[in-house]
Amino acid sequence: MITWLIQTERDLPTLAPSAWLSLPERERLAALRVEKRRREWLLGRWTARRLIQRHLAESGLACDPRDLQIVAAPSGAPTIGALQPAVRAALEGWHLTISHSQGRAFCALARTPAIGADIEQVAPRHPAFAGDYFTPIERAAVATAPPERRELLITAIWSAKEAALKALRLGLSVDTRRVECRVAPASGGAWATVALSCDPILEAPPLRGWWRVSEGYVLTLAVGAA
Ligand SMILES: CC(C)(COP(=O)(O)OP(=O)(O)OC[C@H]1O[C@@H](n2cnc3c(N)ncnc32)[C@H](O)[C@@H]1OP(=O)(O)O)[C@@H](O)C(=O)NCCC(=O)NCCS
Repeated sequence: MITWLIQTERDLPTLAPSAWLSLPERERLAALRVEKRRREWLLGRWTARRLIQRHLAESGLACDPRDLQIVAAPSGAPTIGALQPAVRAALEGWHLTISHSQGRAFCALARTPAIGADIEQVAPRHPAFAGDYFTPIERAAVATAPPERRELLITAIWSAKEAALKALRLGLSVDTRRVECRVAPASGGAWATVALSCDPILEAPPLRGWWRVSEGYVLTLAVGAA
């Protein structure tokens, strides 16, 4: 099961971040110098907390945002810590993934470390983009798509690659052409599938993927098939 949440900057609390961040997170925020990066990092931390709170509430557990600690593993992937033993026990085995884009954050929780989420605003890209980052099959899908669908398709393929590379805890440390994405048509904001195949050199488990469009953003999820 995957549970997810999107938040915008309007959803941030008016409270100072120091009132709801853990100590290591306050230290991390203090080290971030670029305002845009600070804002997106904060929105990711807040969205993750709201998602975790909603998830815990389903088991009748309440949790103060200050009792959670979301810090990066050496790979950069987020990890969840909790002060209360009951909350810690309820979150045992659950893994978090975070993405942000242009004032929105998208987080997901799943009972597998192989979970990746990505959000990308649909926007024009340089004409060389697909040639530089996509496989021949992906480039052919873009070239044969109706011109008015190309921008969306390029965004969906790129986002699915990022979600898959997060699920593998690799991020952009590897060539994006090592993951191939076949994106099924999506309409009406419904989730559609993305068939994901990885170069054997990555020694990746089989991955399943989905994507959808929401208010001018593409959302993608990738998860290790059980
Ligand atoms: C991970 C990566 C694909 C993110 O893509 P992006 O479109 O730039 O940014 P997104 O907003 O979608 O995702 C960023 C989030 O991905 C997560 N992330 C970072 N590295 C990750 C990894 N290796 N695996 C899984 N998740 C990762 C983080 O939660 C990060 O947000 P945060 O730093 O605010 O917590 C890409 O930026 C990357 O590979 N960066 C390099 C990571 C790196 O250098 N790590 C070294 C140790 S910090």
